[in-house]
Amino acid sequence: MTILVTGAAGFIGSETTRALLARGETVIGVDNLNAYYNPALKQARLDRIGDDAKFQFLKVDIANHQDLKAALAGARFSSIIHLAAQAGVRHSITHPFDYGDSNLAGHLSILELARQRDVEHLTYASSSSVYGANEKTPFSETDPTDAPVSLYGATKKANEAMSASYARLYALPQTGLRFFTVYGPWGRPDMAYWIFTDKILAGAPIDIFNKGAMARDFTYIDDIIEGVIAAHDRPPGADHHFHRIYNLGNDRPEELLTLVSLLEKELGKTSEKVMKPMQQGDVEKTWADIGRARAELGFSPSVSLAEGIQRFARWRLGPDYRF
Ligand SMILES: NC(=O)c1ccc[n+]([C@@H]2O[C@H](COP(=O)([O-])OP(=O)(O)OC[C@H]3O[C@@H](n4cnc5c(N)ncnc54)[C@H](O)[C@@H]3O)[C@@H](O)[C@H]2O)c1
Repeated sequence: MTILVTGAAGFIGSETTRALLARGETVIGVDNLNAYYNPALKQARLDRIGDDAKFQFLKVDIANHQDLKAALAGARFSSIIHLAAQAGVRHSITHPFDYGDSNLAGHLSILELARQRDVEHLTYASSSSVYGANEKTPFSETDPTDAPVSLYGATKKANEAMSASYARLYALPQTGLRFFTVYGPWGRPDMAYWIFTDKILAGAPIDIFNKGAMARDFTYIDDIIEGVIAAHDRPPGADHHFHRIYNLGNDRPEELLTLVSLLEKELGKTSEKVMKPMQQGDVEKTWADIGRARAELGFSPSVSLAEGIQRFARWRLGPDYRF
Protein backbone atom coordinates (compact mmCIF):
# COMPACT_ATOMS: atom_id res chain seq x y z
CA MET A 1 0.00 0.00 0.00
CA THR A 2 1.34 3.47 -0.86
CA ILE A 3 0.25 6.33 1.39
CA LEU A 4 0.49 10.02 0.52
CA VAL A 5 1.47 12.11 3.58
CA THR A 6 1.11 15.89 3.30
CA GLY A 7 3.17 18.08 5.60
CA ALA A 8 5.77 15.29 5.68
CA ALA A 9 8.52 17.67 6.83
CA GLY A 10 6.34 18.94 9.67
CA PHE A 11 6.37 17.77 13.27
CA ILE A 12 3.46 15.32 13.11
CA GLY A 13 3.92 14.52 9.38
CA SER A 14 7.56 13.44 9.73
CA GLU A 15 6.81 11.21 12.73
CA THR A 16 3.80 9.72 10.92
CA THR A 17 6.02 8.98 7.91
CA ARG A 18 8.64 7.28 10.08
CA ALA A 19 6.00 5.13 11.78
CA LEU A 20 4.45 4.10 8.44
CA LEU A 21 7.85 3.19 6.98
CA ALA A 22 8.68 1.24 10.14
CA ARG A 23 5.70 -1.01 9.55
CA GLY A 24 6.65 -1.56 5.93
CA GLU A 25 4.43 0.90 4.05
CA THR A 26 5.56 2.91 1.05
CA VAL A 27 5.19 6.66 1.56
CA ILE A 28 5.13 9.66 -0.75
CA GLY A 29 5.68 12.80 1.30
CA VAL A 30 4.84 16.33 0.16
CA ASP A 31 5.63 19.64 1.83
CA ASN A 32 6.47 23.14 0.61
CA LEU A 33 9.11 23.63 3.35
CA ASN A 34 7.82 27.14 4.00
CA ALA A 35 9.61 29.54 6.36
CA TYR A 36 6.87 29.93 9.02
CA TYR A 37 9.55 28.48 11.29
CA ASN A 38 13.17 27.48 10.64
CA PRO A 39 13.18 25.39 7.41
CA ALA A 40 16.45 23.79 8.58
CA LEU A 41 14.39 21.96 11.21
CA LYS A 42 12.02 20.72 8.49
CA GLN A 43 14.99 19.57 6.38
CA ALA A 44 16.52 17.84 9.42
CA ARG A 45 13.27 15.96 10.02
CA LEU A 46 13.37 14.79 6.39
CA ASP A 47 17.03 13.77 6.79
CA ARG A 48 16.00 11.77 9.83
CA ILE A 49 13.52 9.80 7.74
CA GLY A 50 16.65 8.80 5.80
CA ASP A 51 17.29 7.22 2.44
CA ASP A 52 14.55 4.62 2.66
CA ALA A 53 13.81 3.18 -0.79
CA LYS A 54 10.14 3.17 0.19
CA PHE A 55 10.08 6.94 0.74
CA GLN A 56 9.88 9.63 -1.90
CA PHE A 57 9.73 13.35 -1.09
CA LEU A 58 8.20 15.99 -3.35
CA LYS A 59 8.52 19.70 -2.61
CA VAL A 60 5.21 21.22 -3.67
CA ASP A 61 2.60 23.72 -2.47
CA ILE A 62 -0.63 21.78 -1.95
CA ALA A 63 -2.68 24.98 -2.32
CA ASN A 64 -1.72 25.13 -6.01
CA HIS A 65 -3.81 22.28 -7.36
CA GLN A 66 -2.22 22.25 -10.81
CA ASP A 67 1.27 22.03 -9.29
CA LEU A 68 0.14 19.28 -6.92
CA LYS A 69 -1.41 17.27 -9.77
CA ALA A 70 1.68 17.72 -11.93
CA ALA A 71 4.01 16.64 -9.12
CA LEU A 72 1.94 13.50 -8.49
CA ALA A 73 1.15 12.71 -12.15
CA GLY A 74 3.18 9.48 -12.24
CA ALA A 75 2.52 8.47 -8.63
CA ARG A 76 0.05 5.90 -7.33
CA PHE A 77 -1.30 5.89 -3.79
CA SER A 78 -4.35 4.36 -2.16
CA SER A 79 -4.82 6.60 0.88
CA ILE A 80 -3.89 10.08 2.08
CA ILE A 81 -2.88 11.38 5.51
CA HIS A 82 -3.26 15.14 5.18
CA LEU A 83 -1.27 17.04 7.81
CA ALA A 84 -0.02 20.06 5.83
CA ALA A 85 -1.52 23.30 7.10
CA GLN A 86 -0.66 26.72 8.35
CA ALA A 87 -0.67 26.06 12.08
CA GLY A 88 -0.62 28.56 14.96
CA VAL A 89 -3.39 30.55 16.57
CA ARG A 90 -1.50 33.81 17.03
CA HIS A 91 -0.01 33.94 13.53
CA SER A 92 -3.57 33.77 12.14
CA ILE A 93 -4.21 37.23 13.56
CA THR A 94 -1.26 38.81 11.77
CA HIS A 95 -1.14 36.65 8.60
CA PRO A 96 -4.74 35.65 7.80
CA PHE A 97 -4.16 34.94 4.11
CA ASP A 98 -1.63 32.17 4.90
CA TYR A 99 -4.59 30.30 6.41
CA GLY A 100 -6.83 30.96 3.43
CA ASP A 101 -4.15 29.53 1.14
CA SER A 102 -2.81 26.48 3.00
CA ASN A 103 -5.88 25.53 5.04
CA LEU A 104 -8.83 26.42 2.78
CA ALA A 105 -7.46 26.22 -0.80
CA GLY A 106 -5.03 23.53 0.40
CA HIS A 107 -7.74 21.35 1.93
CA LEU A 108 -9.94 21.69 -1.16
CA SER A 109 -6.98 20.77 -3.33
CA ILE A 110 -6.45 17.57 -1.30
CA LEU A 111 -10.18 16.75 -1.39
CA GLU A 112 -10.15 17.08 -5.17
CA LEU A 113 -7.03 14.93 -5.42
CA ALA A 114 -8.66 12.28 -3.22
CA ARG A 115 -11.79 12.32 -5.37
CA GLN A 116 -9.90 12.17 -8.70
CA ARG A 117 -7.69 9.32 -7.48
CA ASP A 118 -10.58 7.49 -5.83
CA VAL A 119 -8.56 6.89 -2.65
CA GLU A 120 -9.79 4.44 -0.03
CA HIS A 121 -9.46 6.87 2.87
CA LEU A 122 -8.46 10.48 3.54
CA THR A 123 -7.37 11.09 7.14
CA TYR A 124 -6.85 14.78 7.91
CA ALA A 125 -5.78 17.05 10.76
CA SER A 126 -8.39 19.17 12.48
CA SER A 127 -7.71 20.81 15.84
CA SER A 128 -8.96 21.34 19.38
CA SER A 129 -9.23 24.98 18.24
CA VAL A 130 -12.60 24.16 16.63
CA TYR A 131 -14.07 24.16 20.16
CA GLY A 132 -13.34 27.90 20.41
CA ALA A 133 -15.34 29.44 23.23
CA ASN A 134 -16.89 26.12 24.29
CA GLU A 135 -17.06 26.21 28.08
CA LYS A 136 -18.28 22.68 28.73
CA THR A 137 -15.45 20.35 29.68
CA PRO A 138 -14.21 17.90 28.68
CA PHE A 139 -14.70 18.78 24.99
CA SER A 140 -16.68 16.10 23.21
CA GLU A 141 -17.08 15.53 19.46
CA THR A 142 -20.81 16.12 19.87
CA ASP A 143 -20.34 19.60 21.43
CA PRO A 144 -21.18 22.64 19.27
CA THR A 145 -18.23 24.10 17.35
CA ASP A 146 -19.83 27.23 15.99
CA ALA A 147 -18.02 29.81 18.15
CA PRO A 148 -14.40 29.89 16.89
CA VAL A 149 -12.16 32.43 18.63
CA SER A 150 -9.37 32.40 16.03
CA LEU A 151 -9.25 32.35 12.25
CA TYR A 152 -7.06 29.26 12.55
CA GLY A 153 -9.85 27.46 14.42
CA ALA A 154 -12.38 28.69 11.87
CA THR A 155 -10.36 27.24 8.97
CA LYS A 156 -10.15 23.86 10.74
CA LYS A 157 -13.90 23.93 11.33
CA ALA A 158 -14.31 24.78 7.62
CA ASN A 159 -12.12 21.78 6.74
CA GLU A 160 -14.46 19.49 8.66
CA ALA A 161 -17.50 20.89 6.81
CA MET A 162 -15.74 20.63 3.44
CA SER A 163 -14.78 17.03 4.18
CA ALA A 164 -18.30 16.14 5.29
CA SER A 165 -19.65 17.43 1.97
CA TYR A 166 -17.16 15.40 -0.11
CA ALA A 167 -17.84 12.34 2.00
CA ARG A 168 -21.55 12.54 1.26
CA LEU A 169 -21.25 13.64 -2.35
CA TYR A 170 -18.73 11.03 -3.43
CA ALA A 171 -18.88 8.36 -0.70
CA LEU A 172 -15.25 9.32 -0.05
CA PRO A 173 -14.29 7.93 3.40
CA GLN A 174 -12.67 10.56 5.60
CA THR A 175 -11.54 10.90 9.19
CA GLY A 176 -10.87 14.25 10.88
CA LEU A 177 -8.55 14.26 13.90
CA ARG A 178 -8.85 17.04 16.46
CA PHE A 179 -5.33 17.14 17.92
CA PHE A 180 -4.82 18.65 21.38
CA THR A 181 -1.49 20.52 21.94
CA VAL A 182 0.98 18.00 20.55
CA TYR A 183 4.54 18.27 21.90
CA GLY A 184 7.81 16.36 22.00
CA PRO A 185 11.32 16.13 20.51
CA TRP A 186 11.58 17.50 16.94
CA GLY A 187 8.49 19.61 17.71
CA ARG A 188 7.38 23.09 16.72
CA PRO A 189 9.38 26.21 17.69
CA ASP A 190 6.26 28.43 17.72
CA MET A 191 4.68 26.52 20.60
CA ALA A 192 4.80 27.59 24.25
CA TYR A 193 6.91 24.68 25.58
CA TRP A 194 9.62 25.48 22.99
CA ILE A 195 9.52 29.26 23.51
CA PHE A 196 9.70 28.81 27.30
CA THR A 197 12.67 26.46 26.87
CA ASP A 198 14.62 28.95 24.76
CA LYS A 199 13.95 31.70 27.32
CA ILE A 200 14.74 29.58 30.38
CA LEU A 201 18.06 28.51 28.81
CA ALA A 202 18.87 32.11 27.83
CA GLY A 203 18.05 33.38 31.33
CA ALA A 204 15.36 35.64 29.85
CA PRO A 205 12.02 36.33 31.55
CA ILE A 206 9.00 34.37 30.30
CA ASP A 207 5.55 35.80 29.65
CA ILE A 208 2.75 33.95 31.44
CA PHE A 209 -0.53 34.79 29.76
CA ASN A 210 -3.85 35.12 31.56
CA LYS A 211 -1.69 35.37 34.70
CA GLY A 212 -1.18 31.62 34.58
CA ALA A 213 -4.90 30.73 34.62
CA MET A 214 -4.49 28.52 31.55
CA ALA A 215 -4.63 24.77 31.11
CA ARG A 216 -3.88 22.57 28.12
CA ASP A 217 -4.49 18.93 27.38
CA PHE A 218 -0.87 18.29 26.30
CA THR A 219 -0.50 15.17 24.15
CA TYR A 220 2.84 13.49 23.56
CA ILE A 221 3.85 12.95 19.92
CA ASP A 222 4.15 9.13 20.15
CA ASP A 223 0.60 8.87 21.51
CA ILE A 224 -0.68 11.08 18.68
CA ILE A 225 1.08 8.98 16.03
CA GLU A 226 -0.58 5.83 17.36
CA GLY A 227 -3.93 7.59 17.03
CA VAL A 228 -3.20 8.83 13.50
CA ILE A 229 -2.24 5.34 12.29
CA ALA A 230 -5.15 3.65 14.05
CA ALA A 231 -7.52 6.16 12.42
CA HIS A 232 -5.90 5.68 9.00
CA ASP A 233 -6.49 1.93 9.29
CA ARG A 234 -10.23 2.29 9.98
CA PRO A 235 -12.05 4.20 7.25
CA PRO A 236 -15.59 5.14 8.27
CA GLY A 237 -18.46 3.55 6.39
CA ALA A 238 -21.96 4.40 5.24
CA ASP A 239 -23.27 4.19 8.84
CA HIS A 240 -21.33 7.42 9.52
CA HIS A 241 -21.92 8.95 6.06
CA PHE A 242 -18.26 8.15 5.36
CA HIS A 243 -17.02 10.85 7.77
CA ARG A 244 -15.93 10.51 11.40
CA ILE A 245 -14.32 13.01 13.76
CA TYR A 246 -12.14 12.04 16.74
CA ASN A 247 -10.56 13.99 19.57
CA LEU A 248 -6.94 12.90 20.02
CA GLY A 249 -5.90 14.31 23.38
CA ASN A 250 -4.61 13.13 26.71
CA ASP A 251 -7.80 13.58 28.76
CA ARG A 252 -5.64 15.30 31.38
CA PRO A 253 -5.49 19.11 31.34
CA GLU A 254 -2.38 20.56 32.99
CA GLU A 255 -1.81 24.08 34.26
CA LEU A 256 0.55 26.29 32.27
CA LEU A 257 2.63 26.84 35.42
CA THR A 258 3.00 23.06 35.83
CA LEU A 259 4.53 22.97 32.35
CA VAL A 260 6.93 25.77 33.31
CA SER A 261 8.07 24.07 36.51
CA LEU A 262 8.60 20.74 34.73
CA LEU A 263 10.74 22.51 32.12
CA GLU A 264 12.71 24.32 34.83
CA LYS A 265 13.37 21.03 36.60
CA GLU A 266 14.54 19.23 33.44
CA LEU A 267 16.62 22.17 32.17
CA GLY A 268 18.13 22.78 35.60
CA LYS A 269 17.34 26.51 35.62
CA THR A 270 14.59 28.75 36.92
CA SER A 271 13.12 31.75 35.19
CA GLU A 272 11.56 35.09 36.00
CA LYS A 273 7.83 35.01 35.20
CA VAL A 274 6.06 38.09 33.89
CA MET A 275 2.30 37.89 34.34
CA LYS A 276 0.41 39.10 31.26
CA PRO A 277 -3.27 39.36 30.32
CA MET A 278 -5.00 36.86 28.05
CA GLN A 279 -3.90 36.97 24.41
CA GLN A 280 -6.30 37.46 21.52
CA GLY A 281 -7.39 34.18 19.95
CA ASP A 282 -6.44 32.06 22.99
CA VAL A 283 -8.72 29.95 25.17
CA GLU A 284 -8.32 29.35 28.90
CA LYS A 285 -8.57 25.60 28.89
CA THR A 286 -8.61 22.63 26.57
CA TRP A 287 -9.58 19.14 27.66
CA ALA A 288 -10.34 16.25 25.35
CA ASP A 289 -13.01 13.68 25.99
CA ILE A 290 -11.34 10.74 24.22
CA GLY A 291 -14.06 8.16 24.84
CA ARG A 292 -14.89 7.85 21.15
CA ALA A 293 -11.26 7.37 20.09
CA ARG A 294 -10.74 4.86 22.91
CA ALA A 295 -13.80 2.85 21.92
CA GLU A 296 -13.44 2.96 18.13
CA LEU A 297 -9.68 3.29 17.56
CA GLY A 298 -8.29 1.65 20.69
CA PHE A 299 -6.57 4.99 21.39
CA SER A 300 -4.88 4.94 24.78
CA PRO A 301 -2.37 7.74 25.43
CA SER A 302 0.22 6.68 27.98
CA VAL A 303 2.89 9.39 28.25
CA SER A 304 2.46 11.81 31.16
CA LEU A 305 3.48 15.46 30.82
CA ALA A 306 6.38 14.89 33.25
CA GLU A 307 7.71 11.99 31.16
CA GLY A 308 7.14 13.78 27.82
CA ILE A 309 8.83 16.99 28.97
CA GLN A 310 11.78 14.97 30.24
CA ARG A 311 12.14 13.38 26.78
CA PHE A 312 11.80 16.79 25.08
CA ALA A 313 14.39 18.41 27.38
CA ARG A 314 16.89 15.57 26.85
CA TRP A 315 16.57 16.03 23.09
CA ARG A 316 16.81 19.83 23.41
CA LEU A 317 20.02 19.59 25.46
CA GLY A 318 21.46 16.73 23.38
CA PRO A 319 23.61 16.55 20.22
CA ASP A 320 20.69 16.41 17.72
CA TYR A 321 19.53 19.91 18.60
CA ARG A 322 20.92 22.68 16.37
CA PHE A 323 17.95 24.92 15.64
N1 LIG B 1 1.00 20.33 16.85
C1 LIG B 1 -0.18 20.58 17.40
O1 LIG B 1 -0.27 20.78 18.61
C2 LIG B 1 -1.43 20.59 16.56
C3 LIG B 1 -2.65 20.78 17.23
C4 LIG B 1 -3.82 20.80 16.48
C5 LIG B 1 -3.79 20.61 15.12
N2 LIG B 1 -2.58 20.45 14.48
C6 LIG B 1 -2.60 20.26 13.03
O2 LIG B 1 -1.82 19.11 12.71
C7 LIG B 1 -1.19 19.29 11.45
C8 LIG B 1 0.31 19.09 11.60
O3 LIG B 1 0.78 20.04 12.55
P1 LIG B 1 2.30 20.16 12.98
O4 LIG B 1 2.33 20.51 14.42
O5 LIG B 1 3.05 18.98 12.47
O6 LIG B 1 2.71 21.48 12.17
P2 LIG B 1 3.97 21.77 11.24
O7 LIG B 1 3.89 23.22 10.91
O8 LIG B 1 5.22 21.27 11.89
O9 LIG B 1 3.69 20.89 9.96
C9 LIG B 1 2.92 21.33 8.86
C10 LIG B 1 3.76 21.16 7.61
O10 LIG B 1 2.94 21.52 6.50
C11 LIG B 1 3.73 22.25 5.59
N3 LIG B 1 2.84 23.12 4.81
C12 LIG B 1 2.13 24.18 5.24
N4 LIG B 1 1.46 24.73 4.23
C13 LIG B 1 1.74 23.99 3.13
C14 LIG B 1 1.35 24.07 1.77
N5 LIG B 1 0.52 25.04 1.33
N6 LIG B 1 1.82 23.14 0.90
C15 LIG B 1 2.66 22.15 1.33
N7 LIG B 1 3.07 22.05 2.60
C16 LIG B 1 2.61 22.95 3.49
C17 LIG B 1 4.71 23.03 6.42
O11 LIG B 1 5.89 23.36 5.70
C18 LIG B 1 4.98 22.06 7.58
O12 LIG B 1 6.16 21.31 7.36
C19 LIG B 1 -1.60 20.67 10.96
O13 LIG B 1 -2.73 20.53 10.14
C20 LIG B 1 -1.97 21.40 12.24
O14 LIG B 1 -2.87 22.44 12.00
C21 LIG B 1 -1.41 20.44 15.18
